[in-house]
Amino acid sequence: MKDNVILTGFMGTGKTSLGKMLATKLGRPFVDIDKKIEDEAHMSIPKIFEQFGEEHFRELERAAVRELSNRRGLVISTGGGTIKDEDNLRLLKNSGVLICLTTEPEEIFRRTARRGERPVLDGGGNERLETIKRLLDERKKFYDRADYQVDTTEWSPIQIIDDICRHLRQFRN
Ligand code: S3P
Repeated sequence: MKDNVILTGFMGTGKTSLGKMLATKLGRPFVDIDKKIEDEAHMSIPKIFEQFGEEHFRELERAAVRELSNRRGLVISTGGGTIKDEDNLRLLKNSGVLICLTTEPEEIFRRTARRGERPVLDGGGNERLETIKRLLDERKKFYDRADYQVDTTEWSPIQIIDDICRHLRQFRN
């Protein structure tokens, strides 16, 4: 299989850590879109949001997607909001197999509890769980267009990777 394998899903679903594990297992290079943006901007994502605003971040994200979707044989982890852009979703889907990691809003709340790292969740005060539920709702229609969804709530990382690999075999030919 020469196509890319792309992990998407909401913040806190484990895209980066599982992406690294999957890349090791498949013997492929791994690219995390958020990390690529940070490396190229020499700035953290919260800082990019703070100094230049979300729209600028989304432009950098679109540029990264355009570049990576022209390459093959990669494991790619997206940011949680990457595929809410119709062009990003189309380019990524055309470049390989798109896998969406899911979990419950309460679990996302627990996993993303540290403030300052996820600018789209900050500023909501005590309504952080409500913000998570609202964004999940808004983004569901995009996540639902993935080729395959894996619920990460109960499974260990090894179980999740095995499940993804089983499904990737279907796309081999
Ligand atoms: C975002 C998710 C983040 C990062 C940025 C915006 C979002 O990525 O791209 O803060 O809109 O959901 P992670 O899902 O890797 O935290």
